[in-house]
Amino acid sequence: MDNKIALVVGAAGGIGKAIALRFAREGATVIATGTSGREKDLAALAPTGSLTPLHCDIAEADGPEQAVATVDARFGRLDLVVNNAGIGLPRKRLHEIDLDEWQRLMDVNLRGTFLMMKAALPRMIRSGGGSYINIGSTGAYRASALAAPYCASKGGILQLTRAAALEYVEDKVRVNAICPGTVRTPLLDRHPPEFLDQLAARIPMGRLAEPDDIASLAVFLGSDEASYITGQGYVIDGGRFAG
Ligand SMILES: NC(=O)c1ccc[n+]([C@@H]2O[C@H](COP(=O)([O-])OP(=O)(O)OC[C@H]3O[C@@H](n4cnc5c(N)ncnc54)[C@H](OP(=O)(O)O)[C@@H]3O)[C@@H](O)[C@H]2O)c1
Repeated sequence: MDNKIALVVGAAGGIGKAIALRFAREGATVIATGTSGREKDLAALAPTGSLTPLHCDIAEADGPEQAVATVDARFGRLDLVVNNAGIGLPRKRLHEIDLDEWQRLMDVNLRGTFLMMKAALPRMIRSGGGSYINIGSTGAYRASALAAPYCASKGGILQLTRAAALEYVEDKVRVNAICPGTVRTPLLDRHPPEFLDQLAARIPMGRLAEPDDIASLAVFLGSDEASYITGQGYVIDGGRFAG
């Protein structure tokens, strides 16, 4: 990833932090975004000068455009994007979900994905191509009870990914999604430990994924080693979907 300019959106949490730090260690110049200010702590963990924190709320209509314009002004190109920003809701039946909760989740997960692609793809084209990665979920393929809005948003992200891959293939921008099963991150804090133990027991490898498992796939998809791969959703789930 030497000489690549990489934007990692939602880099302060579990998976995003692992990806931002791995990209930096692989030689990329990383712009790592967050909304909470926690992104400012990342620079000290990365090789000196390799990671720049940036505020970006993708739920704001002009948040993605402002972030990408800042990257453009400072670095003059954009080669890699990972949009990892995402939220969940407390587990509830569909009819118990307030419209405000639905709207907030869609604003971050689905509208934010669209706005970030809309802002970043033209800059990647001007840079001569690159790799765009959305973080989806196995929920894009297989629904879970009590998580209908989340599954709907991740299904939408997968189809945005596939459609964009077709639209930008001639511009040499590859667009893929990583669709993790359950990953041990702060997003899971809203679930009781017994629930997580039950999930782990159903995974053939007998454990939840770690953020670094996801970062390894992001490094591959972001690299030129994956130059023939576009329009794919990569399930990474310890074997759960195998049977
Ligand atoms: N953990 C899992 O089991 C799992 C499974 C499948 C898919 N995923 C997906 O993986 C991604 C990362 O999840 P995680 O488990 O690492 O959870 P996390 O630690 O809660 O990370 C979520 C990230 O999203 C960012 N974010 C939230 N709202 C945002 C907004 N409005 N604008 C910009 N960034 C925003 C957060 O940044 P701030 O804190 O700075 O706001 C944080 O960096 C999500 O898309 C999630 O749906 C997770």
